[in-house]
Amino acid sequence: MSSRIDKLMSEMTLAEKLGQLTMTASSYAVTGPIIAGDSTESIKDGTIGNLLNMVGPGPTREMQKLAIEHTRLGIPLLIGLDIIHGHKTLFPIPLAEAALFDEAAWELTAREAAIEGAADGLAMTFAPMLDVSRDLRWGRTAEGSGEDGWLATRMARAKVRGFQGSDLSKADAVAACAKHFCAYGPVTAGREYASVDISERTLHEVHLPPFEAAVEAGVATIMPAFTDLAGIPMTAHKALLKDYLRDRLGFDGVLVSDYNAIGELIRHGVAADLADAAALALKAGVDIDMMADGYRKGLPVALERGTVTMDDIDVCVRRVLKLKEDLGLFDDPYRRGATPQTEQAFAERRQLARKIGAQAITMMKNERDTLPLSPQIKRLSVIGPLADAGPEMRGCWWGAGEKEPHVGVLEGIRKGFPDTEIRHAAGTGIDSADHSDIAAALKLCNDTDAVLLCLGEATAMSGEAASRAYPQLPGSQLALAEAVFEYARERGVPVIVVLFSGRPLVIPQLAEKADALLACWFLGTEAGNAIADVVKGAVSPSGRTPMSWPRALGQVPIFFGQRNSGRPMNPDDFFTSKYLDVANTPLYPFGHGLTYGEFAYRNLRISADSAREADAITVTVDLTNSGKHAATETVFLFTHDKVASVARPLLELRGFGKITLKPGESGTVTLTLAASELRFLGIDLKPVFEAGEVEVLVGPCADRSQLLATSLQLR
Ligand code: NOJ
Repeated sequence: MSSRIDKLMSEMTLAEKLGQLTMTASSYAVTGPIIAGDSTESIKDGTIGNLLNMVGPGPTREMQKLAIEHTRLGIPLLIGLDIIHGHKTLFPIPLAEAALFDEAAWELTAREAAIEGAADGLAMTFAPMLDVSRDLRWGRTAEGSGEDGWLATRMARAKVRGFQGSDLSKADAVAACAKHFCAYGPVTAGREYASVDISERTLHEVHLPPFEAAVEAGVATIMPAFTDLAGIPMTAHKALLKDYLRDRLGFDGVLVSDYNAIGELIRHGVAADLADAAALALKAGVDIDMMADGYRKGLPVALERGTVTMDDIDVCVRRVLKLKEDLGLFDDPYRRGATPQTEQAFAERRQLARKIGAQAITMMKNERDTLPLSPQIKRLSVIGPLADAGPEMRGCWWGAGEKEPHVGVLEGIRKGFPDTEIRHAAGTGIDSADHSDIAAALKLCNDTDAVLLCLGEATAMSGEAASRAYPQLPGSQLALAEAVFEYARERGVPVIVVLFSGRPLVIPQLAEKADALLACWFLGTEAGNAIADVVKGAVSPSGRTPMSWPRALGQVPIFFGQRNSGRPMNPDDFFTSKYLDVANTPLYPFGHGLTYGEFAYRNLRISADSAREADAITVTVDLTNSGKHAATETVFLFTHDKVASVARPLLELRGFGKITLKPGESGTVTLTLAASELRFLGIDLKPVFEAGEVEVLVGPCADRSQLLATSLQLR
């Protein structure tokens, strides 16, 4: 610890120390149920040391000045905001970005978001969200990378690197926050904030690895989840926060509570009052209390009660001061926000948002090569409540991008098809029971060359506190869709569904009847332009879904990493694992996503037939694009350990790669498989490397019938 910190520690009063452990919201953005009043007096007397939801070089500088010039000790403030998928320039939501399967792109968007956020005076973001979601009812599915824990580890590393850059003290770096630790995704019945009860094995195999990866990547802060895990709220989970995260993984950064989560320990039923709650959180290792005011009000009482010691408090204060030091705040508290971003930088970032947006678009279906449309097409009807809805394109966390222009589909299509007659009708509202405008929308399907039917959720239907029991098209949209399909089919007009959502939706009717279906998630600032780029073929879609799409809600949770069971589904045997009324398979498997090319895989080979734990195997496959367009294909590598002391999932993701091929061109993709990755947690939950046969599978998605397979002997 530096001498500066030692000196400060020797001078601080208890009230000042508790101020360093307190984070209070300003009213710029409301991200929780309690809105703070004016905190300026508390900043001046040194009893608030950290702020959230404050933004802009002017306001952040003004607050920082209060801390530096008016407080007794001049300790700088730590100021943070949720910069989740962009700050002012919004990139696709994390679930959509995951569809890129591109670590460099994940890192780049985080870097750019950090640059914008830091230029706005911020030193911290509450991102990335690393919660694995296998339940699309859960609204926060939108904020993560989907159903696979291994994929989340890749996202974790890339995002931490991107936000924090190479040196946390730089003026364009922000402290990342890996959240929400841990296993927030499997909330009971997909209901937000509900209790979580999963096995130790699933915890360690699926939900902890992304956080382990973030710690390895040097994440500066971690946020415990609101939820309880088998009865122990994460904010007070000493075994996981202190024993596991700090003692076992060696995480020595700052643990910041979620919004009012310390106060909520009372309602969880593990604390009798705020002093009790504060003591539990502090003892578990939570350094900063966000918005409960439990540390300032509760810890003095807890000290009197003897439930915490001054040493417990000091350890946390030191960690917070160390973070501020690492961020360079003591050396120059105004370095962030000092240099405004140029118009050119914003323009370039919008271009990046457009490129990443186009790459995130996941083409689920494209019958008879409906897409791309010729830019010379004469008439195009753009129908649906999400057609002319720029603000809806933003996605669940819009940071400081609220007032920025957002390109809706209609605007993007008008620009992308300048010589085409574009017609538009909403047909119905996003969540409206009104059918009265459907007839007028149908008229636009007369005498047109194609229909773009823009449907889906409102942006506010996913994200925090946005669980849905009916994760399907809301309101009258299905009625609109059915009417358009029928009317257009009679007239031979193709219907392309452009679908917006923060999660996979249950849309069997669209999958059956649309001629083409683009899952556009929420693509951010440049959505409309990105969509136009794909629709007219300037960009071949290359997104791959990071979550399985179910045929019916009753299949949820549905994910590719399931185990075989003792009675795997067999259509000829009644007593097997199945539904009476729906297939077991997803509507669209993990990894599914078509391109404008057509890729054939052949000649899968591995560098050795057998491997020891320390070996690395090279897996190679040849591909040919026999389609009419150049396109980028994502190639997945899975394994399946056939016989092990603990039954292994039917497929485990181990790698992905990309190749771009022109029509008629062939190429080779090479992926590396470290045999040590084939270790798993044995019966006693300790890692083991067992000899035996492992299938190595390569192909375009997690549908086994589309994978090439070979076998590797572990020795
Ligand atoms: C509550 C959310 O759970 C968390 O993800 C977010 O960072 C905080 N609010 C702050 O806005």
